[in-house]
Amino acid sequence: MQPAVINIFEKAAKKAGKILVRDFGEIENLQITSKSIGDFVTNADIKVEKNILETLKYYYPNSTYVTEESGKIIGDENTIIIDPIDGTSNFIHGIPHVSIIIAKMINEEIVDGVIYNPILNDFFWTSKGKGAWCNSRRLRVSNRSILTDCLIGTGLPFGKRLYDNYLSEIDEILKTTAGIRRLGSAGLDLAYVASGKLDGFWENDLNIWDMSTGALLVKEAGGRISKINGDKWTVSNREILASNTKIHDILSKKLSLQ
Ligand code: IPD
Ligand code: CA
Ligand code: CA
Repeated sequence: MQPAVINIFEKAAKKAGKILVRDFGEIENLQITSKSIGDFVTNADIKVEKNILETLKYYYPNSTYVTEESGKIIGDENTIIIDPIDGTSNFIHGIPHVSIIIAKMINEEIVDGVIYNPILNDFFWTSKGKGAWCNSRRLRVSNRSILTDCLIGTGLPFGKRLYDNYLSEIDEILKTTAGIRRLGSAGLDLAYVASGKLDGFWENDLNIWDMSTGALLVKEAGGRISKINGDKWTVSNREILASNTKIHDILSKKLSLQ
């Protein structure tokens, strides 16, 4: 059974999801501004976030909120993290791979969260100790252990986010796996690792709102998360390596070769 906090996050995500769906594909009506090359924000991001905050503040007026578009609202030790549209570039281009992410963090640990793709009606949720779910289906990471059978997700850097070694990371993974996918929503990438669709995923230069729920989903689906070099992942990290556990060490080694 879904815990009460997930019911409330579901209500917030599904209500705001209607705004997202209404604006999806309406490129002429979108107001788009760019924070930096490739990093866009639209009036839909702002509307969706405002709507989520409105719903959540009714139930949790005293919480701290960490949001992508409105910044931080200081409250008590319960922190709610919000990414109103993960995959804004997909959203702008009419690619239906977008999600709303809401997570709860206590003492620097993600304990509950949802990732909702309102276009496909995929509702992922997880709570510490209660498993990982999509709609009514329990999720489990894949069982693949041979790297050449594995499909690996990543987020390619762009503009200011380019870093040394990104080409050698990609080169190494392309040579030794069944291929790479760059789907455009880090939240859904992690949800797809939890679902066993992707066998692994890595990305550098992420924010906590991109990884929050996804990190817990992967763990609750029997997978593993860490920093790319295999060290322990914490909510202050800006990178993540996630996998079905079986290929974790080998992936980490290949990505740390440079
Ligand atoms: C982005 C997506 C993308 C990832 C970027 C993120 P946004 O989030 O998660 O997959 O590669 O690094 O910034 O900007 O669409 O919320
Ligand atoms: Ca995001
Ligand atoms: Ca976003």
